[in-house]
Amino acid sequence: MWDKVQETVAFLQSKGITKPDYGIILGTGLGSLVDNITVDLKLPYEEIVNFPVSTVEGHSGELIFGELGGKKVLAMKGRFHYYEGWDIQQVTFPVRVMKYLGVDNLIVSNASGGVNPLFKVGDVMIITDHINFMPDHPLRGQNDKRFGPRFVDMHEPYSMKMIAKMEEIAKQNNIKVQKGIYLALQGPTFETPAEYMMVKAVGADCVGMSTVPEVIVAKHMGMTCFGVSVITDMGGEGHVVAVSHEEVQEVARKAEKVVAKLVKQFVEEY
Ligand code: HPA
Repeated sequence: MWDKVQETVAFLQSKGITKPDYGIILGTGLGSLVDNITVDLKLPYEEIVNFPVSTVEGHSGELIFGELGGKKVLAMKGRFHYYEGWDIQQVTFPVRVMKYLGVDNLIVSNASGGVNPLFKVGDVMIITDHINFMPDHPLRGQNDKRFGPRFVDMHEPYSMKMIAKMEEIAKQNNIKVQKGIYLALQGPTFETPAEYMMVKAVGADCVGMSTVPEVIVAKHMGMTCFGVSVITDMGGEGHVVAVSHEEVQEVARKAEKVVAKLVKQFVEEY
């Protein structure tokens, strides 16, 4: 793993990627956030050495290097989901690469189903914490000390300072944001009514199928993380309705402008 990460880092550096100020992972329906980036370099994942290669779908996403709010950013348009069949090391590989390109600050975004009754479809939620209910853990197995310690401190998975800054920006712009706990399940099924109830009962505010493995690996390597989730549907009591991927994408796309504005100003000012 170490050698592969270094090989990919060297490859990306040879393409002209220098130390980015921020790494950004763009989730479902939020890909067009990259329209705000002045692009220096765009690389389809298929062209990146050691990046997981999909044999099923030809096009899994692209890595974008450029400028946003006066800072250098490296953005992943599209991520590798566990439910697609990637193993948990493949899912988190790009985060390891980001770290050794010099990224210390990681911004992650996703779409999720809300279970907090105070939430509404289309809400933007700042992730304050997470619960890992994925069936695998990216740090399971022998620990390579060069990446980080065996037992990783997780007392502040999402930076409180970054959360405070984002709240301030939202307030300034008169944008209402929610805050809450994200719970990760593997998917790809959306939750049953009973599962949404479970998500709520264990103390989470929303549920999704990503992000947690990436943040765990980022924390392993001492990175600072910020996460934002778009509530694309509501589950649980009083919300027993059908959910579709198309709906999720549509709601996320609608919230995209708001998220883009917040993230841009955040990167500019933080
Ligand atoms: N559940 C899981 N993942 C999701 C959901 C959901 O309701 N909405 C968007 N991603």
